[in-house]
Amino acid sequence: MSIQVTNITKIYGKQKALNNVSFNVGENEIVGFLGPNGAGKSTMMKILTCYIPQTEGVAKVCNFDVATQSIDVRKNIGYLPEHNPLYLDMYVKEFLEFVGGIYKIKNSKQRVTEMIELTGLQIEQNKKIGALSKGYRQRVGLAQAMIHDPKVLIMDEPTTGLDPNQLEDIRSLIKNLGKQKTVMLSTHIMQEVEAICDRVIIINNGEIVADEETKSLQQNKTQQIITVEFDKAISEKLLLQIKDIESAKSKSETTWELISSSKDDVRKAIFEFAVKNNLSVLTLNKQEQKIEDVFKELTKK
Ligand SMILES: Nc1ncnc2c1ncn2[C@@H]1O[C@H](COP(=O)(O)OP(=O)(O)OP(=O)(O)O)[C@@H](O)[C@H]1O
Ligand SMILES: [Mg+2]
Repeated sequence: MSIQVTNITKIYGKQKALNNVSFNVGENEIVGFLGPNGAGKSTMMKILTCYIPQTEGVAKVCNFDVATQSIDVRKNIGYLPEHNPLYLDMYVKEFLEFVGGIYKIKNSKQRVTEMIELTGLQIEQNKKIGALSKGYRQRVGLAQAMIHDPKVLIMDEPTTGLDPNQLEDIRSLIKNLGKQKTVMLSTHIMQEVEAICDRVIIINNGEIVADEETKSLQQNKTQQIITVEFDKAISEKLLLQIKDIESAKSKSETTWELISSSKDDVRKAIFEFAVKNNLSVLTLNKQEQKIEDVFKELTKK
């Protein structure tokens, strides 16, 4: 296991930010950490990266305990913090070499060049960080998180502030990184989760409310909503005879919205029903529930 979190609780003064949170992340997994504002995502990430101590529980990264083996944890982890704090007066290369020095990496210069290429910083590499646009600062943050080639990457909202082109570049970079590294990232962009994460952990009010593979989260909780248009008028009563169809809402005499919570695809049954009743299906449209809907449902409270 790359990350093991067992019964972690964090209390800030009077506020409980994390309540008995447990989860594991396996090697080379890309996990999306979702939750509304204030849910506890950044708090969990800060604990995993040894920035703040937990109040209770145990967290391990690459089998090192964050509370007692902090140096080993830090050697194995790369962290892009939420607001990406950088030294604005330093030049990009100077800063990355400085970070490389902290990690005591050999061939620092070569590694900096590699990171600049990997994060697409070439044209901005000779500027001061303070002179960079937000997206390029974000790239510097990514480069510093990866410079020591850590096994585990923790990224708190890594794609915030990127333009659509940069967004695509950084997402594919993260996806590629996930082939050799364990990545945990937080985000508010649901498409991002669907595009890059193998697994999703949803946290609400400091408690985990879902921990599933992205695919199964999309499918299991899915209500199938099918819009179907027949060539003739048809009654609701008859439509409710279709296997697994729970409700039918009329859009017009011939067009209906059918709802099913069956795990099996109900379209086959609809076609069979049409054949049996001498109807033609003119259009049929299946709409899947999105992670966004699941998120809203689970974090309403
Ligand atoms: N240093 C602190 N002192 C007191 N309370 C804090 C501190 N840091 C965080 N909190 C509180 O803990 C809760 C969880 O905050 P956290 O930053 O972990 O949320 P988050 O899920 O990252 O939210 P966001 O999506 O807005 O980034 C919030 O209610 C926040 O106000
Ligand atoms: Mg946060």
